[in-house]
Amino acid sequence: MISLNVNVDHIATIRQARGGNEPDPVAAAVICELAGADGIVCHLREDRRHIQDRDVEILRKIVSTKLDLEMAAVEEIINIALRIKPDLVTIVPEKRMELTTEGGLDVAADLPRFSSLVEIMHKGGIKVSFFVEPEIRQIEAVLKTGAEIVELHTGVYANLRDEKKIEEELAKIKSAADFAKSSGLTVVAGHGLNYKNVIDICKIGTIDELSIGHSIISRASLVGLERAVREMLEIIRYSLLTR
Ligand code: PXP
Repeated sequence: MISLNVNVDHIATIRQARGGNEPDPVAAAVICELAGADGIVCHLREDRRHIQDRDVEILRKIVSTKLDLEMAAVEEIINIALRIKPDLVTIVPEKRMELTTEGGLDVAADLPRFSSLVEIMHKGGIKVSFFVEPEIRQIEAVLKTGAEIVELHTGVYANLRDEKKIEEELAKIKSAADFAKSSGLTVVAGHGLNYKNVIDICKIGTIDELSIGHSIISRASLVGLERAVREMLEIIRYSLLTR
């Protein structure tokens, strides 16, 4: 099976558009879990553009599957994570002007810093995932930090339109996923995945979990959140049956 972790950031994006209380990402998380999601993801950004501190605190109390807090490796958010204790943190690069997370983290570039972050999180009872490009050298770096999970960036794959380039990027993701899995890491894939491009990602065979936000929340705005989550789960299951 492949698990589906639903990112509820964009429910908060709609709320922040009017600065009020609705829609509430906490309510969204409950619906996602009722529809069969295996985990809830939220990104507490330094600029607080969507998810707020209060959301993470309440999500920690009510999420009954698992809570993945996406975050940059900065002191303020590290301290919040250690206090709130999500089940895992996914460490991502964060730039102020970006629309969404752009590309993976260069874990290989600063091993001492990321290794000590893993140690701190593990002492707090929190697992660590690093969001990286599907490159062997990044996965080797993740292994060296002691983290137990790697999330492979699928944004490049999702944005390609040329069939040949899509095949090449899929092959890159597959060899990264195969290597990570055979090295004992839990393998997650995420960014830009939708109801079509997720199928070939599921067929790779060594991906354990998916982290999906925008496409599910977009669809939810038209067909409802429960249906949007169920339909994604059906596609994931069907992709595995037809491998
Ligand atoms: N994984 C990571 C690390 C992300 O930063 C995001 C975007 O918040 C996602 C997955 C989900 O991406 P999308 O919203 O495009 O499904």
